[in-house]
Amino acid sequence: MTTRNPVAKSDSILIVGAGVFGLSTALELNKRGFNNITVLDRYQPPVVDSSSVDISRVIRVEYADELYAKMAREALQGWMTHFKKHYFQSGFVMLADKSGNSYLESSKTINESLGGELTEYSEASQVLAKYPSIPSNLDGLTASVNEKGGWADAEKSINQLNQECSLAGVNFITGPRGRVLSLRRNGRRVVGVNVAQGDPILASQVIVATGAWSNRLLPMAHASSASGQPVGFIQLTPEEAEPLRKLPVIINLSTGIFCFPPTPDTNILKVARHGYGYATRVPIEDSPRFVSSPKRDGNNAAASFLPLDAEQGLRDGLRQLLPAFANSPWMDRRLCWYSDTPEGHFVVDYHPAAEGLFLATGGAGHAFKFLPVLGRYIADCFENKASPEIRQKWRFRLPTGKEGMVKSGDGSRSGPPLRVLAGHEQAKL
Ligand SMILES: *[C@@H]1O[C@H](CO)[C@@H](O)[C@H](O)[C@H]1NC(C)=O
Ligand SMILES: *[C@@H]1O[C@H](CO)[C@@H](O)[C@H](O)[C@H]1NC(C)=O
Ligand SMILES: *[C@@H]1O[C@H](CO)[C@@H](O)[C@H](O)[C@H]1NC(C)=O
Repeated sequence: MTTRNPVAKSDSILIVGAGVFGLSTALELNKRGFNNITVLDRYQPPVVDSSSVDISRVIRVEYADELYAKMAREALQGWMTHFKKHYFQSGFVMLADKSGNSYLESSKTINESLGGELTEYSEASQVLAKYPSIPSNLDGLTASVNEKGGWADAEKSINQLNQECSLAGVNFITGPRGRVLSLRRNGRRVVGVNVAQGDPILASQVIVATGAWSNRLLPMAHASSASGQPVGFIQLTPEEAEPLRKLPVIINLSTGIFCFPPTPDTNILKVARHGYGYATRVPIEDSPRFVSSPKRDGNNAAASFLPLDAEQGLRDGLRQLLPAFANSPWMDRRLCWYSDTPEGHFVVDYHPAAEGLFLATGGAGHAFKFLPVLGRYIADCFENKASPEIRQKWRFRLPTGKEGMVKSGDGSRSGPPLRVLAGHEQAKL
């Protein structure tokens, strides 16, 4: 972890990235009196292809790590109050093979120590008494249930945050002028950013909150690398949606497949896989580096393409969880771009080798739920006020040159190993 001299409240701060990291940081720094904050992004928030949008995100407090378990409990308070319009407490059900699941075991230990509300069923079919609308065959599985959990409307939550930022006086630059091509340096110091249109934008401090795009701006693939995770959407008729209204969010930890109840007004069913995902191979300008990253110069959510095996994985998952819809046509599908980190910890730290540069990225596929409190934690790191435990967990490590590709995350993933897409697949994204 790196400590820097305090940033003055009047210093200009550029935040690159208008996802949950960037916006929550902007709002919190503004509340703390920083009065010259500008957020940059390729598109206006809610940014269509960021991993902070689309119709839903899981809200849960179950964690195998006490820090996140505590943060998730604080965040849940925020979801039940300030963001309650966007939060649906449908309940959260984790399924796993009876042979056991280490993530589930650790979550139970933490539930005990934090006085949680998790209920365990050695026979998953017992869950049907509480949630009779679950249409899956649950034989041979165990289940853990928390009624205090569910999902949030991601896009609407980001919209609220965006509006609060705007009303508080945060500046926004979007479009080609907000599309950051590289960091602008002067010796050891980062002094701003080079953008796709017009002069460079200068500032005293640059905060990189670019999620899956981060390793384009900095050589940090050892610390955070993009993985695309398959997501599919199915349009239900009101008649099809009706029996599923009281469905909880369900994840099968043994496959990584999870699904949500249909959206209340629009009856859209969403299924996804929390797995190891897919990588791309993208050359970095003026550098010998290749990284895994979504496109920078176009919309990654537009093509409605999934690799064949990803689509098959979602179909198999549907057949197990929601068999009636296993063959329903997709209304949309895409890869959701995680920024994976070796242990699933976020990367929130001053850059140890560059002045004027702070990182707030590495969501590792589990950051969105912290939306109500994330900015507070990040601002504490920015102001050197965070606990040593957090500074240590979220520190940015310089590459040693010995690392392989980032993979494992926090032990919650399942499914096939990370696969690098073939050129013809990547071309379809
Ligand atoms: C904010 O910072 C920019 C860049 O340093 C500067 O040009 C601008 O005048 C500042 N705005 C205010 C209101 O201080
Ligand atoms: C979770 O914690 C509560 C409170 O300590 C306890 O009553 C419950 O049995 C725990 N659940 C599991 C699955 O261990
Ligand atoms: C959960 O995953 C296991 C392991 O692959 C599988 O056997 C089972 O059918 C799945 N069940 C559901 C309901 O997803």
